[in-house]
Amino acid sequence: MSEWKHKHLLDLQDTTRGDIELILETARSFKEVSSREIKKVPALRGKTVAMLFAEPSTRTRVSFELAAKRLSADTLTIQAAVSSLAKGETLLDTALNVEAMNVDLVVVRHQASGAPQILANGTKMSVVNAGDGCRSHPTQALLDIFTIHEKLGRTDGVRVAIVGDIMHSRVARSNISGLIKMGASVVVCGPSTLLPVGIEQMGVESTTDITKALKGADVVMALRMQKERQQDSFLPSIAEYVREFCITPERLKLANHKALVMHPGPTNRGIEIAAEVADGPQSVILEQVTNGIAVRMAVLYLLLGRRAE
Ligand code: CP
Repeated sequence: MSEWKHKHLLDLQDTTRGDIELILETARSFKEVSSREIKKVPALRGKTVAMLFAEPSTRTRVSFELAAKRLSADTLTIQAAVSSLAKGETLLDTALNVEAMNVDLVVVRHQASGAPQILANGTKMSVVNAGDGCRSHPTQALLDIFTIHEKLGRTDGVRVAIVGDIMHSRVARSNISGLIKMGASVVVCGPSTLLPVGIEQMGVESTTDITKALKGADVVMALRMQKERQQDSFLPSIAEYVREFCITPERLKLANHKALVMHPGPTNRGIEIAAEVADGPQSVILEQVTNGIAVRMAVLYLLLGRRAE
């Protein structure tokens, strides 16, 4: 098992397979804390974790907050719309003010790719990227990898089909980066306008053919249209997307028997995934959410508790 040496978690590209294995192992040990009657361990008592969110979030923000609380850290949340960011204060100035209140770690989500790096460079706090633009969402990929390993018992040799708006998806980029390191094979699929040119250089197969993508898949991961990041019209119509790419019960039969159905959320039932699939027996969508707490506990502990030791 590798030794943890990082101060920040900005992008899985900065991590090794050993780092990812250490996070998964640590998350496994924390998972049972959430099923205790008293859901708390003292690992981060005395530490303070800030959530600085300039974009909407349900799962990531809430699970980071619960993860920090279950480790006994103090928490605070700053949401852009109701903070001085809305009066024109810069993200870095906001973070420096948070740091002035002796916060140890900041979890940041921002629409601009690279925003977490600015805080890592400009403050002394540990920084965790909770999603920056189209670039990276490392803890989402970690919880996805944790779930795949928990359900299938391995990641080596697992075939993962990621279907949807790959172009604007930080979840796709982080999953590709992490899954390849963990020995999985990845195929990305979507309309040609939503497949980034040169994505194969990340070590994945790329196709517009949904049948080809799903055949033999052990995991089918559906992604929503990232309309908030689409500057242009990438599709003739949503109806056309649904006809060609929606993960329906019939299409799911192309994948391996008992293939896992995953989605990072929020889901748009009837667009990228049929309701019967999202709510069906192969879906692990809510287990991903449950696992998000354990994985984020592991990340906070390794960055704050373990480093302090
Ligand atoms: N998966 C994810 O990032 O969800 P939220 O936008 O709700 O945090």
